[in-house]
Amino acid sequence: MKQILLPNDSALLQHRFTFGVATAAFQIEGAAALREPCIWDTFCAEPGRIRDGSDGLVACDHFHRWRDDLALIASLGVDAYRFSIAWGRVIRADGSVNAEGIAFYLALLDELQTRNIKAYVTLYHWDLPQYLQDKGGWLNRETAYRFAEYADIVSRAFGDRVYSYATLNEPFCSAYLGYEAGIHAPGVQNRQAGRQAAHHLLLAHGLAMPILRRNCPQALTGIVLNFSPCFAATTSAADQQAAWLADQYHNHWYLQPLLEGCYPDLTGHLASTDLPQMLAGDLDIIAQPLDFLGVNYYTRTVFTARDDGWFSDVKPSQPPLTDMGWEIYPQGLTEILVQLQQRYTLPPIYITENGAAMVDTLQEGSINDVARLEYYQQHLLATDAAIRAGVDVRGYFAWSLLDNFEWAEGYAKRFGIVYVDYHTQQRTVKASGLALQQLWSNRNKKA
Ligand code: FCB
Repeated sequence: MKQILLPNDSALLQHRFTFGVATAAFQIEGAAALREPCIWDTFCAEPGRIRDGSDGLVACDHFHRWRDDLALIASLGVDAYRFSIAWGRVIRADGSVNAEGIAFYLALLDELQTRNIKAYVTLYHWDLPQYLQDKGGWLNRETAYRFAEYADIVSRAFGDRVYSYATLNEPFCSAYLGYEAGIHAPGVQNRQAGRQAAHHLLLAHGLAMPILRRNCPQALTGIVLNFSPCFAATTSAADQQAAWLADQYHNHWYLQPLLEGCYPDLTGHLASTDLPQMLAGDLDIIAQPLDFLGVNYYTRTVFTARDDGWFSDVKPSQPPLTDMGWEIYPQGLTEILVQLQQRYTLPPIYITENGAAMVDTLQEGSINDVARLEYYQQHLLATDAAIRAGVDVRGYFAWSLLDNFEWAEGYAKRFGIVYVDYHTQQRTVKASGLALQQLWSNRNKKA
């Protein structure tokens, strides 16, 4: 069997480095009738939004199968499990707490504790309750305050069971894909809306941080952002400028306010009418000290200049590509980490997501996903290289534990290191999962 190998002296093999697997509530839980509807339920119900016309009503049925899933996670030899809380499973439309929802997560957290697996909890992985969207969603400043209340309720209830809290997962996707490009829920297409949603998401983060710290002083508290290093399609000045602008607009727009309390200055590029409206003091609220920054990395992006001075991305056509059509570009992970390290004073970093969708075939009960296995091999080496270059990377989470609902792509794209048969809900660990299991388990023995 093919293995994943790291140099003997790699920091990734040290006992203090954290390895884990990641999931998100809407993508795996199902049991939709036992929670409030969220913006993704609404979006899925709109014709043409999801490539295969599917939804999250059942997904991987993790809500009912969580005990078996945790046994599976434990069998992989991980240190940690990153998962998200469905807001609408714990807070009802009338503001009351859903005790059954809280009980579900408490049981999961207790089982993780029993199995000595650290819980990395994400509070918001895109599933805004529809009752808040009905009041404007992330375009309504009030949503940020509702998020802070939700964070308060959850963190009080969970007590010391949580090792790490991330407020938000990839606010870029919530804001840009959801409110600006319109390809994610709630499907709004408007530049100012995208900027406004981003601001309210960051405000929500900033309001929740001190609450989490107060309620759970022992937990590591931070945020998860996605990064894609931005390249110019050609050496022309216009394309170079386009890549710079895209980098400011997609990457730094989120990190700079968090770490430095200001947005990138895009005067001359972004109309003042597209800037977010904010109140005095908002940026101070946003720029809370972070215990960690979660970095999600999948690929790089290449940009060209548009005639109107804006940028557009060039879809990669050359292999190697994943089943998402994303270029496999492992050195981009090293590059973005080193770039960020040079540009900012960074908190400790966790790679909170990395992985690949590939076409999987189940043959005689096994999945020989060599391409995914190699993707992990290359990106673990890229992580190792970043650490050797001086970046303080403390952990790495594979996306994803299970094949699951891949948002606008539905169930057609499989990111799991474990295969899911959606008819029987049977789970089968893929070759990539077995290789990671071997890496993680051997390391544990050495520690
Ligand atoms: C990230 C999301 C995650 C998953 C991967 C493939 O942007 O955080 O839920 O869909 O992409």
